[in-house]
Amino acid sequence: MTERTFSIIKPDATRRNLTGAINAVIEKAGLRIVAQKRIKMSRALAEEFYGVHKERPFFGELVEFMTSEPVVVQVLEGDNAVAKYREVMGATNPANADEGTIRKLFAVNVGENSVHGSDSQDNAAIEIAQFFKAEEIVG
Ligand code: RTP
Ligand code: MG
Repeated sequence: MTERTFSIIKPDATRRNLTGAINAVIEKAGLRIVAQKRIKMSRALAEEFYGVHKERPFFGELVEFMTSEPVVVQVLEGDNAVAKYREVMGATNPANADEGTIRKLFAVNVGENSVHGSDSQDNAAIEIAQFFKAEEIVG
């Protein structure tokens, strides 16, 4: 089924000019980039976005990291886009990520792991609405 997912190219990747290389992996996997923009996340937005992790020991570090430099936010569309992009991203910790995945190829460590992808269709819809107006998405 054709669906949409939400992606962030994180600061460790934008800083190293890896946006194009990551987009090439995304497109090669058959996912279409139907919206994309470069933004600087505010602290409030990062805290809300990762609110589910606010009791975790890495929360402060995660918010610092996500607000440290610009990110590229994207909407990806394709067959089973949510699950497919999680596969293309690879495991959270690059040490555990499969060969050829974005995190295996590019991530620095478990925190600075180059990309975010929604973990469910419900969260994808919520996250897309947090960052994009409907008219910014051209499928
Ligand atoms: P994401 O939400 O960014 O797509 O990543 P994920 O589902 O693979 O991982 P999740 O458990 O949701 O964690 C969110 C992000 O928090 C950072 N993290 N740091 N230092 C640590 O142990 C640690 N664990 C997680 C990572 O940036 C992770 O992607
Ligand atoms: Mg997650």
